[in-house]
Amino acid sequence: MICLRRFPLVAIVLLLLSCHRGCAQNGVTIPIETRENALVIQMDKDNHPGIIYFGKKLSKASDYALISSQSRQRDGNAGIYNSAYTPAGSWNVSEPALQITHSDGNPSLDLIYVSHKAVKENDNTTLTSIQLKDPVYAVQVTLHYRTFAQENVVEQWSEIKSAEKGQITLQKYASANLYFVAKDFYLTHYNGTWAREMNPEEEHLTAGIRVLDSKLGTRANLFQPPSFMVSFDKPATETEGKVMLGTLAWSGNFRMDFEVDSYHNLRLIAGINNYASEYPLSSNQEFKTPSFIYTFSENGKGEASRNLHNWARKYRILDGEGSRLTLLNNWEATYFDFNEEKLSGLFKDGKKLGVDLFLLDDGWFANKYPRNNDGAGLGDWQENVKKLPHGIGYLVKEAKNAGIKFGIWVEPEMVNPKSELYEKHPDWVIKQPQRPEHYMRNQLPLDLSNPEVQTFVYGILDKLFTENPEIAYIKWDCNAITFNAYSAYLEKSKQKQSQLYVDYVKGLYKVLEKLRAKYPKVPMMLCSGGGGRVDYEALKYFTEFWPSDNTDPLERIFMQWEYSYFYPAITHSAHVTDWGKQPLKFRTDVAMMGKLGYDIVVSHLNEKDLKFSQQAVATYNSIKDVVWQGDLYRLVDPKQNDFASLMFSTKNKDRAILFSYLTGNRNGAGSDIPFRLQGLNPAKQYKVKELNLYPETRTAIKEDQTYSGEFLMTAGFNPAVSARRTSVIIEIVAVD
Ligand code: DGJ
Repeated sequence: MICLRRFPLVAIVLLLLSCHRGCAQNGVTIPIETRENALVIQMDKDNHPGIIYFGKKLSKASDYALISSQSRQRDGNAGIYNSAYTPAGSWNVSEPALQITHSDGNPSLDLIYVSHKAVKENDNTTLTSIQLKDPVYAVQVTLHYRTFAQENVVEQWSEIKSAEKGQITLQKYASANLYFVAKDFYLTHYNGTWAREMNPEEEHLTAGIRVLDSKLGTRANLFQPPSFMVSFDKPATETEGKVMLGTLAWSGNFRMDFEVDSYHNLRLIAGINNYASEYPLSSNQEFKTPSFIYTFSENGKGEASRNLHNWARKYRILDGEGSRLTLLNNWEATYFDFNEEKLSGLFKDGKKLGVDLFLLDDGWFANKYPRNNDGAGLGDWQENVKKLPHGIGYLVKEAKNAGIKFGIWVEPEMVNPKSELYEKHPDWVIKQPQRPEHYMRNQLPLDLSNPEVQTFVYGILDKLFTENPEIAYIKWDCNAITFNAYSAYLEKSKQKQSQLYVDYVKGLYKVLEKLRAKYPKVPMMLCSGGGGRVDYEALKYFTEFWPSDNTDPLERIFMQWEYSYFYPAITHSAHVTDWGKQPLKFRTDVAMMGKLGYDIVVSHLNEKDLKFSQQAVATYNSIKDVVWQGDLYRLVDPKQNDFASLMFSTKNKDRAILFSYLTGNRNGAGSDIPFRLQGLNPAKQYKVKELNLYPETRTAIKEDQTYSGEFLMTAGFNPAVSARRTSVIIEIVAVD
C-alpha cells in the first residue's frame, strides 16, 4: 500500500498512469442500452470515442462515467485499444476498423467525435448514431447502434462519407469495432465443408489476432459461417456464464478480427472482408456497411440464443412470426429423371402423406443442352419440352387437382458453360479472361455486379410467377463458390475489379429487394448446396434455409444444434430422407424439430411406414407452432453425452415439446437418470404424453402422472431414451 500523504507526488504520478487513456478528462459519455445490457462509449480528452463498458446494464446511467476511474490499465503504445472505430495510419497502430486512402494518395485517418443522437423509433427500438470526422480530411463516419430493448439485441453498422473532391479508396471498412474487458476469452467458431457443416470449436484466445474469414464469394459460408460466440472469464454453459453471440448480416466475404491486446482485453473488428476488395468512394457518396448483430447474456448460451431467436422472428426473418408449409421434395426421389406422369404421381403421394406442398427440384429446364445432369443447362430457364411438354403451368394445375400446392427449384445466379446463356453472354460470367475456367459442380457464377445480369436473374423468377401466379414456394440454390474473380462488366464500365466481391452481394440484394417488392410473401428456401449461405441479411428475403445436404438424422442433430444458437427452428429446413441408417421414426423425429419436409419415395413406404408418416405429419401440424414460435432450451448436449435432448416451450409456459435422440451406442447408452427440464412454470402442474409413436408400439412413459413444473425443472424427467427407444417426442401440457 502506498501512503498518499507521505508520497503525494508519487501518488499523483501513479494515479495519472493508472487510468485508461482519457479517464482523466472524461468527455461525452454515451450509454447504448437494452433491457439488460449496456455498451458505453466515452470520448477521451482528444475526443476519440472509446468503449469503456460492455456488459450488464447499471440502473443509474450517470454511474457509467465512473467506470474508467476503476481501470489501472495504462495508455498503450499502440494507440487506443478500446477505440469504438479504430482509424488507420495516424496515431493508432493497432488493427484498424477503417483504413482509407484519400484522393491525394495520403493514407492517414483520424476520427474524432462531432455529435450524437438517440432516436426512439418505437417502444422497443432506439437508434443511437455517433458522428465522427477526420480533423484534416473531409471524411466523416457515422456509427449506428440500433437496440432492441426487450430482446437484448444490438444491430450495429457504420456509414462512411467523403466530401473530398476526388475519389477516396476504402481499404478496410468494418461494420463494428467492440472492446471487451475480462479475465479470459473463449471463442466458439464453426468450420466445415459440403455435407459437414457447422462443426464447433472452442478456443481460449491468447495474445495476437485470430481471424475468422471467408474469401469464397458466392456461397461464402461453405467453410465457415459469419457467426460465433465469445464467453467471458470462463466457457459459458447453456445456463451459466457471460456470453456474446455475434453474426454478420452479409452474404459475401467476411472478416472478423479477435485481437487479445497487450492488456489481455479483447478487441473485435467485424465486417466485409477487405481481401481483394478495395472500394472506391466518390465525393458525397456514402458507403453503408452491413449490420453486425449481437446479443449478450450473463446467464449462458441458452438465454443468449433465445434473445436472437426472439429478435429474428419479430424483426428480421421474412414472415418470422408467420406460418410455413410442410412439403415433399423430389430431389432424392428422382434426381434429374422425371416427366409429367411421374410428377403427377408424386403430387398424389404428397397429398397422401398430408404435406402442404410439392417441391419440384433441379432438372426441369433447358432444351439445347437439357438439364439431365449437373453438367449442362444451368442458365436456360425454359421448361425442358421432353420432360415437361405442357410446361410448368400444367404441373401447377395438376398439383392443384391433386389437392397440393406447387413450388419450384431455381439456381438463378449460376451458369453451366454448356448452356445457351453462356454461349450468348460469355461476358456475364465471372471468370478470368486469360486463364482456364475453374468449376465447382461444372458451373460458374454470373456477374451480379452487372445490372443486366441483375435484370436477367430477377426476370427468371418474375416470369415464373407471372406465368404461374399460383407457384407457392421457391427453393433458391447456389452451388459454386467464386474462382477467378473478374468482371467483364466492371472492366468495361471502367470500375475497379476490387469492387466485384462487394458489388456482387449488393447486386444480389437489389434483385431480392425488387422481387420482394412484387412478391412479398411467397416462402423461399435459401439453399446453397447445403449450408453455404445463411445470414441475417439474406433472411430478410427468405423464410427458411437448407442447413446441409447431409440429411443423415444423426448428423442433423449435431448440425441443427449448432445452427440453433443463431437461427430459430422455424428457419431450419429439415427433411426426412433415406440418408443414414436410422429407422424412419428416428429420421422423422429429427426432422420434426425443424421445419418438416420429405424427400423420399412415398410409394416405397410399406403400409406401417406410410401410416406412421401420415400420423407424423398430422402430429407435426399440431405441435409446429410450439417448435416455430416457442422458446428453445438445449438440455442434453450430444457432444458430451450419449443422447441429445432439447425442448420448445410456449411463451406462457403452458405447453412444451421435448425431443430426445440417442446418439451413442456403447454400454447400453441412454437416459438412465432424469435431467432437468427448463422453460416451465414451477407453480403449474403438467401432464406428459408421448407423441409420434410408431404403429403398434407402446410408450414407456407413465402418462397418467401429473408433475409440477418445479419437479420437472429440479428433480428432472426421464424420457427413457434407449437402444429400444432411440428417439422420443414428449408433449408437456399444463393441466387445470
Ligand atoms: C443442391 C441442393 O442442396 C439439393 O437439395 C438439390 O436441390 C441439388 N442442389 C439440385 O441440384
